[in-house]
Amino acid sequence: MIMKKEILLQLQNISVYYGGVKALDSVDISLDKGEIVALVGPNGAGKSTILKAIFGLAPIHSGKVLWHEKEIEPIPHEAAQRGIAFIPQGRRVFSHLTVEENLEIGGFILKDKHKLNRRIEEIMETFPILRQKKKAKSGTLSGGQQQMLALARGLMTDPKVLLFDEPSLGLAPKIAKEVFAKIKEINEKHKTAIMVVEHNIKFSLKITHRAYVLNKGEIVAKDTSQKLLKSDVLEKIFMGKLV
Ligand SMILES: Nc1ncnc2c1ncn2[C@@H]1O[C@H](COP(=O)(O)OP(=O)(O)O)[C@@H](O)[C@H]1O
Ligand SMILES: [Mg+2]
Repeated sequence: MIMKKEILLQLQNISVYYGGVKALDSVDISLDKGEIVALVGPNGAGKSTILKAIFGLAPIHSGKVLWHEKEIEPIPHEAAQRGIAFIPQGRRVFSHLTVEENLEIGGFILKDKHKLNRRIEEIMETFPILRQKKKAKSGTLSGGQQQMLALARGLMTDPKVLLFDEPSLGLAPKIAKEVFAKIKEINEKHKTAIMVVEHNIKFSLKITHRAYVLNKGEIVAKDTSQKLLKSDVLEKIFMGKLV
């Protein structure tokens, strides 16, 4: 079945400076309904800055951000209201709070207590381990469980778009694989569009439809993940052979 392409999110010609440092140079990116896209590239390439720009957390110097093909000014609380969830780099759970309390914070938009509890129940269907640990302080969870909690918390509002920065950071390969499997499952079951930043190219290209390769603030390649996996462009960039 051929689905009609529907563009959710676009960056057009986006440049970002931190002080005098150019972090993004005329970047064009799009995310369609239902797809998973990877942003890959070496450290400092500008991957996190792209997610921050979408969520209103980067100083955009020029260019446009479009939501459903209309220009918007990215501001964090408005992004959340539109249905964009952002999971920043590094495990960001409130370790002194319980699993359940963390999920409640993730659902802050759901003002109705009944709706909030129902959503927590739904989320726990997807993350059975979190049900078992519902009353545990998040700081006592393993690294992988904390990352699952960060993901679950991001999904509390049932977002249309999920921005996930470095899901596998600090996790053993086996655990990272489980997190990636969960990301894929969420995309397939709920058709959530996902933009994932990941330093582990193999993990990210295996679960994504398309990928953008960044280097020094510029997009140096974009293609389907399958084609990128077969090409030598990634090797060239990561070996520093591409300037
Ligand atoms: N808050 C900041 N202040 C100054 N420079 C920053 C800041 N955040 C990122 N940078 C710089 O911007 C560039 C891109 O960073 P980033 O988007 O974090 O890269 P990546 O996520 O690909 O590793 C790097 O040169 C980095 O040092
Ligand atoms: Mg980063």
